[in-house]
Amino acid sequence: MILLTGATGYIGSHTWLELLQAGQRVIGIDNFINSSPKVLARLEKLSGKKLEFLQGDVCDPVFLESVFQSFPIKGVVHFASLKAVGESYSNPLLYYENNISGLIALLQVMQKHSCHHFVFSSSACVYGDPDVSPVKEDADLKPENPYGQTKLMSEQILRDLEKSDSKWRVAYLRYFNPIGAHESGMIGEDPNGIPNNLSPLVARVAAGRMEELKVYGNDWETPDGTGVRDYIHVVDLARGHVKAVEHLLSGKPSLTVNLGTGVGYSVMDVIRAYEKVIGRPIPYRVTDRRPGDVALYYADPSLARDLLGWCAERNLEQMCADSWRWQSQNPMGYES
Ligand code: NAD
Ligand code: UD1
Repeated sequence: MILLTGATGYIGSHTWLELLQAGQRVIGIDNFINSSPKVLARLEKLSGKKLEFLQGDVCDPVFLESVFQSFPIKGVVHFASLKAVGESYSNPLLYYENNISGLIALLQVMQKHSCHHFVFSSSACVYGDPDVSPVKEDADLKPENPYGQTKLMSEQILRDLEKSDSKWRVAYLRYFNPIGAHESGMIGEDPNGIPNNLSPLVARVAAGRMEELKVYGNDWETPDGTGVRDYIHVVDLARGHVKAVEHLLSGKPSLTVNLGTGVGYSVMDVIRAYEKVIGRPIPYRVTDRRPGDVALYYADPSLARDLLGWCAERNLEQMCADSWRWQSQNPMGYES
């Protein structure tokens, strides 16, 4: 059985479905700090299975102990963390407490129950502003914000743990920019409050919930002057987790891999792809650069292909089409 923490969140919910479809038994946990309990009914409908879920906090060792006592957990996929970069600057202690204490509490309970397989949600933000793209896994690690620091520190904690006991097997998955939604339009990204990331903002402008998109600068050193990123469909990302779980459970060694497509798209590319999907223009205005932003980065995903046999399959148009299906079928997210 696989324990999914942060199971009702954006990436967690898509991974839950893919794990069930791959025949894994899953127990999900979440405290709903950034997700809705309504995800659960949607996942039951999509999977045709009764879900196993417990509400609780990964920072709470008593809760975690009860989960491990109740279920025969062989491996953990750890999504539960806070992820808003801006908030991590204004409230760093909250980020260090939630993301680091949660990880430590979880690892302690796992150790006690002799469960040593761990898939960790790391992030391309551990590379900060990479010197070259495509970015390989051995690039310098220099996160630029407290959120990114929590990801690098988590990696360090896990690497020290591996050194202390050879039974540990860890998959460090460094995601690039997940966007899109399940093709059914039934689950998708539903951030609390005003989104910060490009894709949910484009979706809201397309839906008329916002007047225009702000394009943060068109004077970057990129082909069209707008920022370039490696957008990856959330279902491709979720399948990368299934591969990582299968890899670890089959006794193979720990690995650190980028999960991206290897292709960089600019903000204008995303706007144009979205316009093609919805068949009308997306209003936008070029503004100043966003503090802390970088011009361009995209992954070298070849190691994930070699070690996991995993490749992203969906292109930008599919990412935008699926994002739009989710947005138009659920104009107010899960509260629709
Ligand atoms: P999300 O906020 O949608 O999901 C995280 C889930 O964890 C939420 O459901 C939240 O309620 C839960 N959670 C947070 N703290 C918790 C706690 N203490 N106890 C129990 N549950 C808790 O975020 P996501 O986009 O699905 O991201 C999942 C993971 O991937 C996170 O670790 C994030 O840092 C990482 N990541 C995300 C991105 C991205 O762009 N979405 C990129 C790189 C890495
Ligand atoms: C942001 C975070 C990063 C995190 C990632 C995924 C910052 C500085 N970085 O990265 O740490 O890992 O999200 O959660 O917040 N853009 C606009 N207008 C908008 C929003 C974005 O032009 O309204 C542009 C940005 O300048 C960037 C691109 O769109 O060029 C993508 O932005 P975003 O989705 O926020 O992702 P990242 O900047 O890669």
